[in-house]
Amino acid sequence: MRVPLFVANWKMNKAVAETAEFVTQLSELLVAAPGKLGQDFEVLICPPSTHLSTLAAAVGSRPIEFGSQNCGTAKSGAFTGEISPVVLKELGCGWTLVGHSERRHIYLEDDALVLSRTRAALAEGLKVVLCVGEKLEERRADKTMQVVEAQLSILKGMSASEIERIVVAYEPVWAIGTGENATPEQAEAVHASIRKWYSAQLGNSAAESLRILYGGSVKPENAAQLLREADVDGFLVGGASLDPVVFSNVIKNGLESRAPGV
Ligand code: 13P
Repeated sequence: MRVPLFVANWKMNKAVAETAEFVTQLSELLVAAPGKLGQDFEVLICPPSTHLSTLAAAVGSRPIEFGSQNCGTAKSGAFTGEISPVVLKELGCGWTLVGHSERRHIYLEDDALVLSRTRAALAEGLKVVLCVGEKLEERRADKTMQVVEAQLSILKGMSASEIERIVVAYEPVWAIGTGENATPEQAEAVHASIRKWYSAQLGNSAAESLRILYGGSVKPENAAQLLREADVDGFLVGGASLDPVVFSNVIKNGLESRAPGV
């Protein structure tokens, strides 16, 4: 069984001072979720890196995970503006995102850089959410899987213990921040193809245990439909993760769609 994972990507939003209250409220709201946090479902918060130590203190012993939105390619050195994976571990992070479409398209990060970030994160024991997804023109040209497979190809040659610590997030670029989510059928088609690629390239067991998150205009109103799909194992949420009530409703609605008898 793949445990559903819900990731809040705050991007460059929120004041540091809003962090603790968010965690308190979210924890209280999730008591009413179907299932136990940290056991039946997992929640990961990725704030701006400036907020991480405050977030770590706010989370304390709660079963909420936290991580970075990106990760440097080396342990330390002359890399202005980068974030050391060693320091991410020091702050208590368990995870980092890599290859988010905003990094790929605004900051021109290519697959070689995404690979080096992934390797550096894994080397320090972090888990990685590898983000992939096509642009609108690529979807229109029927190139979705070609683009996604090229982005996934950085995983070829990784060891089983590295592959185990990777989650893939499928985020079609045209659905990010637009209010227009992929339909459940569109998301499922790509997720199923990602699992098939995994099976062919990395083996059946890696494919079966891989969690594939959907991201792109996820909100409480579409969470149930999307999470009902067989290969959708959770969400990577931007705008709807900024308010604890809205984010908890994404989680609750998603989980309820999977509860027995629903
Ligand atoms: P939105 O949920 O705001 O569309 O953002 C998705 C995203 O990019 C999460 O990483």
